[in-house]
Amino acid sequence: MTFFLETNIYQFFGRFHALIVHLPIGFIILAVIFECLVWKKKIDLKLAISYALLIGASFGVIAVVLGLMLASDGGYNIDTLSLHKWTGIATTIVAFLLFFLSKKKDTVVWVKKIYPVIIALIMILLSVAGHYGGNLTHGSNYLFEHAPASIRAIAGIKPVRERVTNLDSALVYEDVIHVIFEKKCNVCHNNDKAKGDLLLVDSESILKGGENGKVVIAGDASKSELYRRITLDPHHKEFMPTEGRTPLTNEETLLIKWWIDEGVSFDKKVVELNLTDRIKDYLQDVGIGLKKSFIESLNLSEVDNKILDSIRAEGFKIKTVTNRSTLLEVNYPIYNKEPLNEGKLDVLLRAKENITWLNFSGIPIQENLISKIGQLENLTELRVNNSKLTNEAIKYLTQLKHLEYLNVYGNPISNASVESFQKLTKLKKLYLWKTNISEESMLKIKDSLPQVTIITGEQNLNKTDRF
Ligand code: HEC
Repeated sequence: MTFFLETNIYQFFGRFHALIVHLPIGFIILAVIFECLVWKKKIDLKLAISYALLIGASFGVIAVVLGLMLASDGGYNIDTLSLHKWTGIATTIVAFLLFFLSKKKDTVVWVKKIYPVIIALIMILLSVAGHYGGNLTHGSNYLFEHAPASIRAIAGIKPVRERVTNLDSALVYEDVIHVIFEKKCNVCHNNDKAKGDLLLVDSESILKGGENGKVVIAGDASKSELYRRITLDPHHKEFMPTEGRTPLTNEETLLIKWWIDEGVSFDKKVVELNLTDRIKDYLQDVGIGLKKSFIESLNLSEVDNKILDSIRAEGFKIKTVTNRSTLLEVNYPIYNKEPLNEGKLDVLLRAKENITWLNFSGIPIQENLISKIGQLENLTELRVNNSKLTNEAIKYLTQLKHLEYLNVYGNPISNASVESFQKLTKLKKLYLWKTNISEESMLKIKDSLPQVTIITGEQNLNKTDRF
């Protein structure tokens, strides 16, 4: 029974509309191109043209039926939908008409006369139907979104405001929140397609809310439907965005939370809101404020080849990080016969400023060695999974102030390490699979480092619990 309850056959088939609809378009255009060739070059393509028209028209019928099913899904702008629907149906009818006329045009005089007019007509219908179909799928701004200002002016679209990325003058709604909605939500919540009767395009529509009323409660994200939807478990059927679209990043989610908690402003600058260092970090992540990432800001000189050779001689593999020959990625492969020891790490430390990635997966690391890893001050990524690390060893990692990615899975560490992780304030990803850290402790980490994604193997921490 539940199968039927959860299945909506109309919606299921309807979604194939966008896939099928390109077939009739292709065949009809092919027929028109052939007609041009016949006209210009006098080649005989009569049969091919009839087939193309018949196939085009037949697929047109299928596309129309699927389209009507899709429309029953609801949430589309009625005017755009009706224009699209009727021009689509008309295109199909005219394609059949052309098919019949194409057989007669060489023998009947009046058919020969009107034939080019009908060809022109079907092209117009096809373009109009296609255009409104595009608007329904992508929103009416889609076509000219990236057009130069002059072309936008001709198309009658208001000029886009250049996004301000300077921290002091950026506006919280226009330059941050609106940008996020446009990127992740508005394919479905725009003027032509308002799923759940919700538009997220301007102050009026956002404050108005959707079919179930308000979606933002100024000053309280936790009571806001919009915030609830984006923090559900991604598998939940009410999770937004739906249909497997790219979800919001943790930073984007937290910025929306901040914007709601700070009163849902549509005209204030970000600096007029309570701007903590953490929020500044998140803003940087969406392109506001200091552009440079930590790595980009490092101004290092290249490591002498002799030093690199001496490090390689100890069994380390060294690569330069994409396009930045000054940044090094170091790996100590598991097949090395010699265990890692203090002497080897001392050699490695000769290039310590330049090392930003380190991979010691599966290599046992004693405590005296981990203190040396702690000296790699510019490290942003560290893999020390299955390295027999203890809680004591983890303490040394707190010196790594720029660490963004840390994989410590498969180590015998426990809740006592929570405090150490909490000190790694730049952390974005933390792998804690197969450790003795309890879920409660993970939530503690999440509380102090809300931007972090904790990966536990079986299941990422439930999204609602994570904020
Ligand atoms: C792929 C299409 C799609 C995308 C992308 C999408 N939504 Fe939705 N949204 C829907 C559909 C369909 C509904 C109605 C069904 C429902 O309520 O779950 C809906 C409903 C909602 C509702 C509930 C409205 C109400 O009053 O019931 C909210 C809030 C919402 N979306 C927010 C968002 C946000 C925020 C984003 C971006 C992070 C987003 N949506 C992205 C399709 C989408």
